[in-house]
Amino acid sequence: MTVKLPINTILAIDTSCDETAVAITNQRRILSNILASQVEIHRKYGGVFPTEAKRAHQEKINHVVEEAMKRAREIDFDFIDAVAVTYGPGLAPALEVGIRKAKELAKEFNKPLIAVNHLEGHLLSTLAQNSKGEPAILHSSSLPAQAGSPKARATSQEEIKFPILSLLVSGGHTELVVTHDLLKGKYEVIGRTRDDAAGEAYDKVARMLKLGYPGGEIIEKLAKKGDADKFNFPIPMAQDQSLDFSFSGLKTSVMYTIKGLLNGNALHHVPMKTIQSGDSPVLDRQTICDLAASFQRVIIKSLLIKINKAIQLIKPKSIWLGGGVGANLKLRQELRNAIKPYDLRLYTPYSQRLYTDNAAMIGIAAWFKAQREEFVEDIESLDRLPGLDL
Ligand code: KG4
Ligand code: ZN
Repeated sequence: MTVKLPINTILAIDTSCDETAVAITNQRRILSNILASQVEIHRKYGGVFPTEAKRAHQEKINHVVEEAMKRAREIDFDFIDAVAVTYGPGLAPALEVGIRKAKELAKEFNKPLIAVNHLEGHLLSTLAQNSKGEPAILHSSSLPAQAGSPKARATSQEEIKFPILSLLVSGGHTELVVTHDLLKGKYEVIGRTRDDAAGEAYDKVARMLKLGYPGGEIIEKLAKKGDADKFNFPIPMAQDQSLDFSFSGLKTSVMYTIKGLLNGNALHHVPMKTIQSGDSPVLDRQTICDLAASFQRVIIKSLLIKINKAIQLIKPKSIWLGGGVGANLKLRQELRNAIKPYDLRLYTPYSQRLYTDNAAMIGIAAWFKAQREEFVEDIESLDRLPGLDL
């Protein structure tokens, strides 16, 4: 198929985990960004149950596509230049649903198909703009040329300088990424988690405390009322020379502390499964808040130690943040403070909704791929890649 350039308006789909997400984007602008959340379905499992996720995506995908088109107004398929879809990383059965729908639309309407790495989406979510092209900050010769709205052009712009150091913190990934060139998509992962991701640790600790799923937001809320120095959990990888992270030891420390608290410190009398299987721990509310605050202090501290190291090594020109854990206000505050001495600014997505999974970020990443003319050559052959790296 010969692709008609330029590609500007994209219908993007993401079904990598537990959100059925469809967006219409125009360059970096979001025209619509629809989510059908499955949180209620997965709450009873305390995590995402893949076959349930697939079933729910199948049920909702058509409706979410229709809704995204409707909200983008005046748009019918004639105005869509390309279809984009997340092909990894993510849950295989969930990814499959989005890919099938994207293929169907690309074939029916004769549009090029762009396969997007979910992590590239999180990485570029900082560049998202609303439908008026705001915020207009961040421009560069290393960005595709953008036809901005008059209002956007009038706003002052800041030039993107390289390298950029990004922290990607989600439920599946904790990575430090250096971006050398946006237009060329030249990324280098310089640090990653060796076990659990930061968001996964939030979710597991929330499950131990019977706080529900997903755990990040609720732990952040409870932590505000807690004493962060009450429990002295060890800071993971603090002495390690690499830029890697590890959070499973912290999770275990929290678990043993809960066991100790439940059993008057006689740790061996409480079987481990008592906590993991979800028998409601009998802890008073203040203790739960103190545990949440102490846990969060250590997570943030361990992220900051490695960012500090990476800044000294890479000497980046700016710091970007993406992924669900980035929605955490305390993390953002502390990150801003930590990078101030280096005279660095933190760039983040403009809306809280753009940290967690969404399809708008996939549309924006797809626009960059379209500039590189990276289209799926044989639509039928596109397959999911659940373990895809950046
Ligand atoms: O990026 P995301 O939506 O999905 C993945 O790609 O994994 O991230 C979801 C993760 C969950 O683990 C959730 O607990 C965490 O982000 N999260 C938070 C907050 N909001 C969501 N973690 C800490 N504080 C928050 N406010
Ligand atoms: Zn994600």
